Amino acid sequence: MAAATAAIRVAAHSSLTLLPSSSSIFTKFRSISHLGITSISISITNPSFFSSPTRNRRMAHVVAKATLGLTHPAQIDHPKISFAAKETDLLEWKGDILAVGVTEKDMAKDKNSKFQNLILEKLDSKLGGLLSEVSSEENFTGKSGQSTVIRVAGLGPKRVSLIGLGKGPTGSSTSGYLALGESVASAAKASQANNVAVALASLEGLTPESKVATASAIAKGTLLGTYEDNRFKSESKKSSLKSVDFFGLGGGPELEKKLKYTEDICSGVILGKELVNAPANVLTPAVLAEEAEKIAATYSDVFTAKILDTEQCKELKMGSYLGVAAASENPPKFIHLCYKPPSGSVKTKLALVGKGLTFDSGGYNIKTGPGCSIELMKFDMGGSAAVLGAAKALGQIKPLGVEVHFIVAACENMISGTGMRPGDILTASNGKTIEVNNTDAEGRLTLADALVYACNQGVDKIVDLATLTGACVVALGPSIAGIFTPSDELSKEVVAASEVAGEKLWRLPMEESYWDSMKSGVADMVNTGGRQGGSITAALFLKQFVDEKVQWLHIDMAGPVWSDKKKAATGFAIPTLVEWVVSNSAS
Ligand code: BES
Ligand code: MN
Ligand code: ZN
Repeated sequence: MAAATAAIRVAAHSSLTLLPSSSSIFTKFRSISHLGITSISISITNPSFFSSPTRNRRMAHVVAKATLGLTHPAQIDHPKISFAAKETDLLEWKGDILAVGVTEKDMAKDKNSKFQNLILEKLDSKLGGLLSEVSSEENFTGKSGQSTVIRVAGLGPKRVSLIGLGKGPTGSSTSGYLALGESVASAAKASQANNVAVALASLEGLTPESKVATASAIAKGTLLGTYEDNRFKSESKKSSLKSVDFFGLGGGPELEKKLKYTEDICSGVILGKELVNAPANVLTPAVLAEEAEKIAATYSDVFTAKILDTEQCKELKMGSYLGVAAASENPPKFIHLCYKPPSGSVKTKLALVGKGLTFDSGGYNIKTGPGCSIELMKFDMGGSAAVLGAAKALGQIKPLGVEVHFIVAACENMISGTGMRPGDILTASNGKTIEVNNTDAEGRLTLADALVYACNQGVDKIVDLATLTGACVVALGPSIAGIFTPSDELSKEVVAASEVAGEKLWRLPMEESYWDSMKSGVADMVNTGGRQGGSITAALFLKQFVDEKVQWLHIDMAGPVWSDKKKAATGFAIPTLVEWVVSNSAS
């Protein structure tokens, strides 16, 4: 039997700014080896400063300045979820839901309609054949995305759920197990379950390492699936899920360590979601900068923060970025966090650069007409949310051997008498001039100066992330991000990280001949090159601001930043960025 217990309490404490979020992690390991149980308990809770007596809701500490519309996010306690590895007989388990992940192969039945899979057959005979009946009535064949829940009587669990895993663990299976965790979360929500057991019908082909990775992916799916951002709702229901027991997926210190790591990533993803979900009247560039400072203050052993104001950006000649910011009443903030490992030397220097448009109206080329999604343009700081979410996770993981710079040129793209006009010529901090033929192609203008700044930090590699083009959404749809890089090596690294993380990236070409459409009659370049290949010309534009000696990769995440179905942010790219940084670290 496995023999260690780790209790991990995660406190999302509030801080100086408007955004309550999961902030710091308190870790406590208790050894109860004599009990022979491995249990890992993870909670995401939000203690807070003051609460409303009427609704039992808690308000975050509020910055001095009033927010437009008097809106302040509430701080809400998220219930604690404990994950435990069990090695007892699955059929003896007692609780609310027994969830079994099944592949299409596991669902095969013999000619007497009996399951060939051992676990399913045992379960089915305990249920008097109900499982086999229901699965054929509902045409449940184990395809991914399929799930079924049956209320049963006279058995240990109150409900039995089958969750489809499709063809099963072929190739990269992280996303399948993430989805399994999400299904567990939604089944638990639907029946207000407190405890769930999770097992796989077959463990065929799973090595001890892949079992740990599987448990981690399921835990991640469950944690993130359970999380709901109710900060702006006056009434909200809490999830009741408190414990998840894993069967057959290993245990011991390896699993504990991995689950703590998973939790650190989830706390970063939750911060990223909260940053993106927060509307532009709440999350101004200044508030985004305060959030960054909060991360640095929380993990002050590894972070330093620098926030540059308009004047300081002028001194650095960031005319491209400041051109975009010029129309807004909310001043721009240039954010720079620096991560240095707690010990040892630095072998690799990295930069993560995120587009941080807290709102994109389009400027004088205002977003109009159906489908322009102007009302969603609070999500135009999704790249910066990914960068800061990754910072928060890495502040807890503390990888060795890497220095990481987190850079965001945050501002708002608005319209006013002080704003940049179509046709204006801007001068970026590397001296290049840009004729702004479209004020709605503003992201690349802010990234231009941010990339020059990143290169000046002496980094070896840069990954930038941006909700850059609608064209990328047209090309790859809502759940795949486009990547662009002249470096095959960096492409491989980042794609490998995304596979571990279970996120989808697709490399698109940087076709140099398309640069022709970016030529200007009066300046070094224009900022848009027409509708065709819009994501490619945007990437070619960014390339003008990157030192050739630096390896650079651009992620266009305009599609995956937001889920139309969930009407919420996804926290996209944070797990990939963390995996990428960790893959560049050395112990
Ligand atoms: N933030 C938008 C990109 C965007 C559009 C993201 C829709 C998600 C959904 C960006 O600033 C923008 O407006 N891009 C323009 C570029 C065009 C003017 C060349 C676009 O994609 O339409
Ligand atoms: Mn725009
Ligand atoms: Zn934009």
